[in-house]
Amino acid sequence: MWSIKTFEALGSTQDQLKSLAEDGALEGLVIQALSQTKGRGRHGRKWEEGAGNLYMSILLRPECELAHIAQLSLTASLAIAIALKKSLNKHELNLIVKWPNDILINNKKCVGILPESGLTPDNKKIQWLALGIGVNIKSAPIETSCALSQYSGKNISTESVRDDILGELESDYRLWKSEGFQNIRKKWLSLSYPKGSRMQVKQAHGTIEGNFETIDEYANLILQTKEGERLKISSGELLLV
Ligand code: BTN
Repeated sequence: MWSIKTFEALGSTQDQLKSLAEDGALEGLVIQALSQTKGRGRHGRKWEEGAGNLYMSILLRPECELAHIAQLSLTASLAIAIALKKSLNKHELNLIVKWPNDILINNKKCVGILPESGLTPDNKKIQWLALGIGVNIKSAPIETSCALSQYSGKNISTESVRDDILGELESDYRLWKSEGFQNIRKKWLSLSYPKGSRMQVKQAHGTIEGNFETIDEYANLILQTKEGERLKISSGELLLV
């Protein structure tokens, strides 16, 4: 289902894909750049460039309501996590999917996902979803990050990681379209933090603290506070305490 266009260098694959999505590009378009000068991360941050890493943005047109969009970014993180295990050929890897959009190996981040979407004119449905994916393959550009090459005995190419990710995403996306989120949610939970893990979520207006309970059917994070209150969190930055 994928049509891959690879560029030597771009400002941001995400900006390129979003403008093509607005111009009517078809679902399945993938924009990859070998290097990015203006890579963007979540919360308005910069995504640091590292030689030999994967930068790509994927266009989906899921025709779903806005409320279902978070399910798709978790579907993508599950697909990427499985693909990385395959690429590294290691099933015992200490790999964690961290709500909402990161993948960590040994507590260091190796994948970031930036989901951005456009709505239909009546603001009710998703017209396009751009999944911006950065995978540290050869370089770990910041202190808190790691690269896949640290965990692989052999040389791993950006193309093979890209193709493994696209293969997994295609099947998980089909699963989501045919069966919904239920099975994906279960698999995602099996790769995330254990129930009861102490967590903080940083939001614009303050920080919330609680024990990890689950993620719900809309991919919200559910925490249990000390006082026994059940919190439903739809956005924020997760920290482990
Ligand atoms: C995060 O903050 O964790 C998300 C990082 C997403 C980075 C990728 S790299 C490819 C795509 N193009 C961008 O400008 N950003 C995303």
